[in-house]
This record gives sequence, structure tokens and C-alpha cells, in this order.
Amino acid sequence: MGKYNIAVLPGDGIGPEVIEQAIKVIEAVGEKYNHSFELKEGLLGGCAIDSTGEPFPKETLELCKSSDAVLLGAVGGPKWDNLPGDKRPEAGLLGIRGALGLYANLRPAVIYQALKGASPLRSDIVKDGIDIMVVRELTGGMYFGERGRVQTENMGQAAFDTEKYSEFEIERIARLAFETAMKRNKKLMSVDKANVLESSRLWREVVIRVSKDYPEVELNHMYVDNAAMQLVRNPAQFDVIVTSNMFGDILSDEASMITGSIGMLPSASLGEGSLGLYEPIHGSAPDIAGQDKANPIATILSVAMMMKYSFGLGEVSDAIENAVISVLDMGYRTADIASADTANVVGTKEMGRLIISK
Ligand code: NAI
Ligand code: MG
Repeated sequence: MGKYNIAVLPGDGIGPEVIEQAIKVIEAVGEKYNHSFELKEGLLGGCAIDSTGEPFPKETLELCKSSDAVLLGAVGGPKWDNLPGDKRPEAGLLGIRGALGLYANLRPAVIYQALKGASPLRSDIVKDGIDIMVVRELTGGMYFGERGRVQTENMGQAAFDTEKYSEFEIERIARLAFETAMKRNKKLMSVDKANVLESSRLWREVVIRVSKDYPEVELNHMYVDNAAMQLVRNPAQFDVIVTSNMFGDILSDEASMITGSIGMLPSASLGEGSLGLYEPIHGSAPDIAGQDKANPIATILSVAMMMKYSFGLGEVSDAIENAVISVLDMGYRTADIASADTANVVGTKEMGRLIISK
């Protein structure tokens, strides 16, 4: 029997509603598999601003650091939209990722058989389902490189951002991607722009070097423009994709949208050690908050990722995912994934209850 401490940050809008169901799932698997999960709640985002004046109070940082994993709902909403950038709820997101040293973002894009119709792609392209994991570098590259503006003599202002990666940064994300591939189908696609960018040539060299430690993993390389095209032409060819911060930002959004359902998609952000942050990719959805309409599945699948990546509980993780699949196979849908002919449209609480009963 394992004992695990989980920091729970419900946040704003639908955050607390989807987190409530995720907590019930954690309690249910704890009981069934005889693990003890200790949950402690903290403030992040708008709710934290309202009670402390800060989007990411230091008590929340302390709570996260003393935990084995963090489960986050979503933050933000119209109430806080007029605050300056560094005081807004979303500043809490960047703050927590930075403070916990989370250098890798894992985003699965999965099309379950029962939801094939939701994909914007043609049915013959998604007929066998899609199951891709995008591993995005999160703390380096263009978004953190040197930037600035200069006045030129006769071309007006010029502005620049720098794509810079060290061998250290590439090696640690590559290792994490190979480890991820080992837990899946031992297939890794490294995406870069090595035909043009020097930073990409170093990226490719280092990835190849790391691959020597993972002889079982089949490694391939693809240029990012081609990868963008292949994701919609033949997404089934991909298993794990590893790429830089900026390319990953774009490709992970593209990959998630081929599934057609923002309410279904979980994510994990990982760093040194086992402390990980798990959250749905969607936001606080103020348009449906407080109406028992939000789809809790993205958050429940984030719990499944936590079980696997932070706690090494693969069996528990599979049990959660299989429960989600059974409920979908039975025809139950929240409004966001329902189609015109869906008979069983259920709310947040009922969807949670069905998954737990499975
Ligand atoms: P959003 O993801 O909150 O909503 C986009 C659309 O998807 C809305 O129509 C919403 O109703 C729907 N939707 C989202 N999650 C759903 C779910 N679980 N079930 C059913 N429908 C769902 O993105 P939006 O509207 O751009 O942002 C709203 C607020 O959330 C903003 O304040 C934004 O800054 C914040 N945000 C926070 C994020 C986070 O906490 N990680 C990520 C993205 C946005
Ligand atoms: Mg993005």
C-alpha cells in the first residue's frame, strides 16, 4: 500500500466543479487498490487574488513543494480581466510552472472509438482511433531566449527573439521522451527544423546521442512543417512526438484539436524528480460555470496520468481510463461531446458518478 500527498488547486469557473469529480475518482481508486491519497486544497488564480491579493500565494507554493503531485482545475474569468498582466489569474499558471521547475509538458491526443464522429478529420483517416503523446519542452527556446528591439538607420524599428537550446536542456527532454516511449509503443518522432536552424541541428545531434541508451525505441526525425501536415494527413503514424517549446506549443494544439473535444484532454507537466502538475488543457469556461454542464473527463484523465507518471501506478491509471471508455461506449455524453442523436446527455456530477461506478 502506497501513501501519496496530492495538492489540489481547484481554481476558478468550472475548475472546482471538475475537480470535485476528480477527487471522488481519487478516493474511489484509493479504496479499491488500497492506496492512501492525502489531499490538501490550495488557492491559485482568481480565487487566490480575491483572498490574498496574489494569483500564486506563497502558501500555495509551500503546499505544492511538500506534495508528491499537484492537481489543478483551471483559472481565470471575466471578473479579473481588467487586472494588469502580472496580477492576472493566468500569471499564477506561469508562476507555478516556473517555481516547480516543470520543463516538460505531456499532452496526449486520443480519439476514442466511441467519439470518432467528433473529429474534424474524415472518418477513414481516424477509423482505427488516434493515440498520440506530444512531449513539449517547456522552459527553454524562443519563449525564454534573449529578445529586444533596436532602432535601425533607415528601416524603422527591428525586433528579435532568440531560439537557444543547450545540450543539457535537449538531453533532459529527450530522455524524458524516450522514457515515455518505453512506457508506450517504443516509437519516437523528434520534430525540428534542422534543414534551416542551427539550434535544431544541435537538437537532432543530442537526440541521436541519447537514443543510444534506448536501443529498443524506434527513433525518427521530421521537419516541423511536414509534421504539421502529417498530423492531419495521417495522424495514426505518430506515437510519441518530442519537440521544442515553440514547435510544441503549435503542434500540441493542432494534435489536440484533431480529437475535436477540449473537454476530454488531460495534460502533465513534469520536472526534476517525481513532482508533476496535472491539469485539463481547457480553461475555466465562464460561459458554463455553475451549471453542472462541464465535462469532467479531461480532469479525471489528468488523474490517470498522475497515477502513471508521478506514482508509477500503471494499473490504477489504466483502470481510470478504461472506466472512462466504458461509460463512453455505453453512450453517455456531456453536452460538449454530444451529437444531435445522443440520447444520454448527462451533467458533470452524473458523468463523474458513472465513471466511478465503472
Ligand atoms: P476555455 O477552455 O475556458 O473555453 C473554451 C470553450 O470550451 C468554451 O465554450 C467552454 O464552455 C468550452 N469548454 C472548456 N472546457 C470545457 C469542459 N470541461 N466541458 C465543456 N465545455 C468546455 O477557454 P477560454 O474561453 O478562452 O478562456 C476562459 C478563461 O479561462 C479565460 O480567463 C482564460 O484566460 C482561462 N484559461 C485558463 C486556462 C488554464 O487554467 N489552464 C487555459 C485556458 C484558458
Ligand atoms: Mg498554445
